Amino acid sequence: MAKILVTFDMFREGFAELESRYDVTFPEGKDFTYEEVYELIPEYDVLCSMFDFPVDKALIDHAPNLKLIANYAVGYNNIDVAYALGKEITVANTPGPVTAPTANIALGLILDTARRISECDRKLRRLGKEMKVGLLENLGVSVTGQTLGIIGMGRIGKALAKRAAACGMNIIYHNRRPLYIEEETKLNAVYVSFEELLQTADFVSINTPYTSETYHLIGEEQLKMMKPSAILINTARGPIVDEHALVKALKNGIIRAAGLDVFEFGDHPLPELLKLENTVLIPHIGTQTMDTRIEMTHAVCNNVIGFLEGDRPVTRVLRP
Ligand code: GLV
Repeated sequence: MAKILVTFDMFREGFAELESRYDVTFPEGKDFTYEEVYELIPEYDVLCSMFDFPVDKALIDHAPNLKLIANYAVGYNNIDVAYALGKEITVANTPGPVTAPTANIALGLILDTARRISECDRKLRRLGKEMKVGLLENLGVSVTGQTLGIIGMGRIGKALAKRAAACGMNIIYHNRRPLYIEEETKLNAVYVSFEELLQTADFVSINTPYTSETYHLIGEEQLKMMKPSAILINTARGPIVDEHALVKALKNGIIRAAGLDVFEFGDHPLPELLKLENTVLIPHIGTQTMDTRIEMTHAVCNNVIGFLEGDRPVTRVLRP
């Protein structure tokens, strides 16, 4: 019977089918550490990993039986995919359930930064009756009629485009390849160069995977290309943005504001970002809903069962 190791602590709802068929090992009360997984892995056929758990060469080399890495995430930058594929280990991810909630949180950050929702909430709590509420106080920027530039037009980018269109935004995008014309027409999205996107968008949303090519895709130079009135949204991965450069840009009016669900240096933003009023900072809650957690668990289990039994599709990662 195939042996399956789950690295992350997650409620069991959703794992029932997997548990009924295979020998599944879960951590108790908190995620397994890298060292614990390294000790256990030689015996296992399948590793179910979380997006922040490093599945590197050393771990793969220590796993002679490993046939499948099923990641609990759409992103797979935590896995050395090239090395795994080279060893004929399949890698799978969970794009389906991640798409809508991540697009929703990106739209939330657009609206929040533009209309200063969190900032006004903070001020109102802090100042109480002293808060100024005149007609010209707390002015935000319109969202309707403005241009959203989406960097990375995959599933999440497209889902965001639909939501933004419902808010009356114009959509431009940049991607490795333009979409087919039919899809562009459906989304009412216009393909532009990376530079044109930065120069013309009122909002720039990062929805591209994190790879060695997208590390610091947005740095000092790119921030300077953006409009001083522009707002940057990142719900993808922190290191795509040079966070030190972003702090400078936000402090010096190079761009207007930023909404971030991810940070360059792990789970927490640079302390300077926390001091700025023109930021909305949330702790990677893009998929943090109960329904999504369960759906992602199902997606991981379906990938494992589909891989082992061939009775359902597997969402395979085909290239690094
Ligand atoms: C979340 O960050 C994911 O990659 O699914």
